[in-house]
Amino acid sequence: MEQILSTTYLWLKAGHVIFVIFWMAGLFMLPRYFVYHQESEPGSAEEQRWIDREAKLRKIILTPSMIAVWVLGLLTASAIGAWSEGWLHAKLLFVLGLSGYHGWLVAYSKKLARGERPLTGKKLRLLNEVPGLAAAVIVILVVVKPF
Ligand code: HEM
Repeated sequence: MEQILSTTYLWLKAGHVIFVIFWMAGLFMLPRYFVYHQESEPGSAEEQRWIDREAKLRKIILTPSMIAVWVLGLLTASAIGAWSEGWLHAKLLFVLGLSGYHGWLVAYSKKLARGERPLTGKKLRLLNEVPGLAAAVIVILVVVKPF
């Protein structure tokens, strides 16, 4: 029984990390798309291509990966009984922040598709630092487990 549980835990964790990579890749790519999108002529065929690319990235990679990261992460936590660990609570706080950023990106891409362009390219480039910083803190919390 113990053998089965520990093998399951390793497979769950492997799946979790695989989808973390896909999710992070999408979180880095989408704001880059926004920068190029905003450099295109409003109403042009090129703008339409960016709208389609953004919708595909959201629907095929970003949102399914976020769901898989959450499901597999929570199952991994159950498999090792980590619910009372301080590092997990802190990690969940940062992952909630990252999920909020994800939601904001989805909302922004829908605004762009409606022809609105609320932020400058410079601000979008700066926002691109958010997932990198959050991922660094999250990985330190789960690997070093400082508390
Ligand atoms: C969605 C909520 C999440 C939950 C509930 C969760 C939970 C967990 C748990 C319980 C483990 C196993 C820790 C261990 O083996 O000691 C783990 C591993 C890991 N998680 Fe998450 N996680 C989540 C999201 C994330 C995110 C967003 C990232 C990166 C940005 C991430 C990166 C990792 C990495 C790299 C490992 C492997 C650590 C190791 O094997 O030493 N996780 N996660």
